Amino acid sequence: MKPVKVGLLGLGTVGTGVVRIVEGHQEDLSSQVGSPIVIEKIAVKSLDKKRNIEIERSKLTEDPWEVIRDPEIDVIVEVMGGIAGTKEYILEALDRGKHIVTANKDLMALYGSEILAKALEKQCDVFYEASVAGGIPIIRTLIEGFSSDRIMKIMGIVNGTTNYILSKMSQEGASYEDVLAEAQELGYAEADPTSDVEGLDAARKMAILGTLGFRTNVELQDVQVRGISSVSKEDIQYAKRLGYEMKLLGIADRQDDEFSIAVQPTMVKKSHPIAAVNGVFNAVYVYGEAVGETMFYGAGAGEMPTATSVVADLVAVVKNLKLGVNGLKAIVPYKPKKLKNDDQ
Ligand code: HSE
Repeated sequence: MKPVKVGLLGLGTVGTGVVRIVEGHQEDLSSQVGSPIVIEKIAVKSLDKKRNIEIERSKLTEDPWEVIRDPEIDVIVEVMGGIAGTKEYILEALDRGKHIVTANKDLMALYGSEILAKALEKQCDVFYEASVAGGIPIIRTLIEGFSSDRIMKIMGIVNGTTNYILSKMSQEGASYEDVLAEAQELGYAEADPTSDVEGLDAARKMAILGTLGFRTNVELQDVQVRGISSVSKEDIQYAKRLGYEMKLLGIADRQDDEFSIAVQPTMVKKSHPIAAVNGVFNAVYVYGEAVGETMFYGAGAGEMPTATSVVADLVAVVKNLKLGVNGLKAIVPYKPKKLKNDDQ
């Protein structure tokens, strides 16, 4: 059994989790796919950084191109983040016939259609389960689980940082500024929390979910965005007295063939299950015409939950390699887009 060789771009929190799962679950993984999965090379920011896992130094490089250009490598796992440079690495890897697993929501929300078109041309897989809602397998669920249904509504708590902030403001009556500082200290919020608190991170994730759920090409500019920076503890306490919880919700709604998508602070009735999602957890509620209500809940970020999704994608790529069907799932017959209140 020839091993499948993987090149890893990034060895931060998620990259470390990927190495732990690939090594720790190796026996189970290889029994599922019929070959050992080997992490062959890893591109890191600095060779000298102290790490909390043991890695053979000879596997590390500071040059991502060395990983991309290695002819031995079958699959590139991108967990380094970033947009412009990272896109170049991915497109070049596809040109070289390598399959891609990425956790990069920013890249997929902005350039997903270009990357998937290239994947289709090159008959390569591009899987991105970890880009939305970390450990919840919502992307696979929308593509495969609901392929038989017509999805009418998706509501998501898809940003853990803002859910942590709003939950604490609700439960402890704390101020927005105090909880944001605490979230940054705990490492939940990004170093620059603007994209979390202003709703942009959630908007990018909702563009991805909307595209898959409505089977049309939803772009970031189609999502109306309002964050939580202007939500006061008084607003939250007032909502509570009326029987509501304040949540930063992504809401993708369809009527006939027209849809709308927004991210905004929303008062959710306490009796709705999404109102009970607290802390850094994520949840995605999906309403299908045939299936009715469904809801998916779990960790939206963090080393092991996110790595679980990344490695599940890796397993899917390797299964496709064995069957010789890579790239075929990239064929999505997207329909023309019709935004609500759009005259075009
Ligand atoms: N900053 C993101 C969040 C990380 O808080 O959800 C996971 O995408």
